[in-house]
Amino acid sequence: MGAIPSRIQGGLKEPRADRTPAAGDAVRLDGLSFRWGQSLPPVLALESLVIARGERVFVEGPSGSGKSTLLALLAGVAVPQSGVLEVLGERLDRMSGVQRDHFRAHHIGYVFQMFNLIPYLSMVENVVLPCRFSQRRRAAALRRSPTLEGEALRLLAHLDMGDPALRSRSVTALSVGQQQRVAVARALMGSPGLVIADEPTSALDSDRRESFLRLLFDECRDSGATLVFVSHDAALEGLFDRTIRLGEVNGAVLAAPAP
Ligand SMILES: Nc1ncnc2c1ncn2[C@@H]1O[C@H](COP(=O)(O)OP(=O)(O)OP(=O)(O)O)[C@@H](O)[C@H]1O
Ligand SMILES: [Mg+2]
Repeated sequence: MGAIPSRIQGGLKEPRADRTPAAGDAVRLDGLSFRWGQSLPPVLALESLVIARGERVFVEGPSGSGKSTLLALLAGVAVPQSGVLEVLGERLDRMSGVQRDHFRAHHIGYVFQMFNLIPYLSMVENVVLPCRFSQRRRAAALRRSPTLEGEALRLLAHLDMGDPALRSRSVTALSVGQQQRVAVARALMGSPGLVIADEPTSALDSDRRESFLRLLFDECRDSGATLVFVSHDAALEGLFDRTIRLGEVNGAVLAAPAP
């Protein structure tokens, strides 16, 4: 077989999603615009938005202002029609769908509003799950604990879920607040560089919300993760480094006719 033409070799230079992303900001959006469908109106038009590494950012805005859409972009689930979408030094807007899937598996911890725990897996298996899809996260978890299960239990204990009686229980038999903490432990497993949370405290009472947040902050700080947190709960805002008011920075909302 002959030498590989340099044109094809060039393809090997495609960004490798598992390598350590370049230094710089955690998030950089520039002239970004996004609509969910060609015939649908724009949802986001963001001139410039930068989030520094390690920052803890609170995102607020009225219902429908595009908070969850912004998180979908940061996680590489959606791609902008135009503009720069850079996360952890990588241009997601230039990646293929498969590359974005890999990037998400390696670098993003996502806490969903409804948790999305897998009902037929145990609590520990749910937490270990990200390491099944990412060698990078597996290696990071094993740098912190001798086994993946051990690291899952360490995170769960830190989130006040260390009671051995809980371990054998199906995740569907946990309270909402307990499920929430399992979802956070899963998002933090393997130290992803960016942790995204979409209204994860909405089902907690106000005492638990603050302690839950402090635990989330501790874990993000320990692993050097940047945190982007969406919530309607204005009482939590003061705990964060900064607030992004989507209603104020989103040109698409500003341009929309008054209802
Ligand atoms: N998958 C989708 N397909 C089409 N339109 C969508 C999709 N997801 C969201 N939208 C639309 O995009 C706009 C912004 O929705 P988004 O879910 O980002 O708002 P939000 O700020 O998270 O609202 P809430 O506070 O109610 O969760 C809404 O008009 C919504 O209908
Ligand atoms: Mg939302």
